[in-house]
Amino acid sequence: MLRRLHPEQPDTFAFTPDNQAWAEGQMTKYPEGRQASAIIPILWRAQEQEGWLSKPAIEHVADMLGLSYIRALEVATFYFMFQLQPVGKIAHIQVCGTTSCMICGAEDLVAVCKERIAPNAHEVSADGNFSWEEVECLGSCSNAPMAQIGKDYYEDLTADRMGEIIDELAAGKVPVPGPQNGRYAAEPLKGLTSLTEWDSGKTQYNASAQLAVDIGDTVKRIDGTEVPLLMPWQKGANHNASPAKPAEAAKAAKAAPKAGASSDKSAEVPGSGAKAAAKPATDVAGAEPEKLDAPRDGGADDLKRIKGVGPKLEKMLNGIGIYHFDQIAAWTPEHVAWADQNLVGFKGRVSRDNWVGQASALAAET
Ligand code: FES
Repeated sequence: MLRRLHPEQPDTFAFTPDNQAWAEGQMTKYPEGRQASAIIPILWRAQEQEGWLSKPAIEHVADMLGLSYIRALEVATFYFMFQLQPVGKIAHIQVCGTTSCMICGAEDLVAVCKERIAPNAHEVSADGNFSWEEVECLGSCSNAPMAQIGKDYYEDLTADRMGEIIDELAAGKVPVPGPQNGRYAAEPLKGLTSLTEWDSGKTQYNASAQLAVDIGDTVKRIDGTEVPLLMPWQKGANHNASPAKPAEAAKAAKAAPKAGASSDKSAEVPGSGAKAAAKPATDVAGAEPEKLDAPRDGGADDLKRIKGVGPKLEKMLNGIGIYHFDQIAAWTPEHVAWADQNLVGFKGRVSRDNWVGQASALAAET
């Protein structure tokens, strides 16, 4: 299947403040300079917020991670879990069409979707509320046929029940997920034949469905206020302490002095400026490299040609007076240490990607 960006795109994308804090927290899961590894969870959060991934959203995530846009686009277009077109405002229904589900009635479920939502997969219904698609096996084959709606599985479906679920969602209700034919989980249809004592003490619904009910899981979009957002290591040494609200953390991050602005060598949480565990980023004392007020005649070099420098890093470098390959090529280990410390959100990137060596080669070309 050809996966292309949708022809109609919004002008901009921004995370909600809480989702932004969450995304920055994800970046702290990885070693310095490896923040690009957070791309999938952050793209996923963008999709959870908007329902789908627009070009501005993909580019926003690329900027956060210091990636060139093409690298983020490669990820977003590769994985089918990323929706590249608008989806229904209330729900996007993913009907499993693989073997078990197909022989147990998936085609009937698809027929309901075609009739009730839109004739074609990935087409939004006339009222804008629903969309659907057929997907590959979702690993719930013993409860075929099934569909995923939001985060939850609706199993043992019939065409009638599928129609009812659409009606309930349209009415603002959240149908209880799990088996829809009275089955508890994936036991034999006629009931348990062994381990029958397990019957006692069980919860009203099976574990997954019960959890969804208990936490009030819904199909609504995620704005970041739903769950505690900070990573454990962002909460300070006392992990039993109540987590700070992300908005508060973001405020604290803004108030915190920038790395390198004082003699405090504590590490910063990449991308957020929030304080993390004290950790020297380098053994070499940093020294600020020589800067230019403006590019020389002939204009600035395309610093994005240095592997690891994306549009955001290039802008950041220009902002501190670095415009040319030969400037970076001339950096001493002290200058590299300074840059490793002070490119907030990209700590360690300069030495990791050997900018000096790359810049020397590029300067020789020009
Ligand atoms: S075949 Fe449908 S869940 Fe596996």
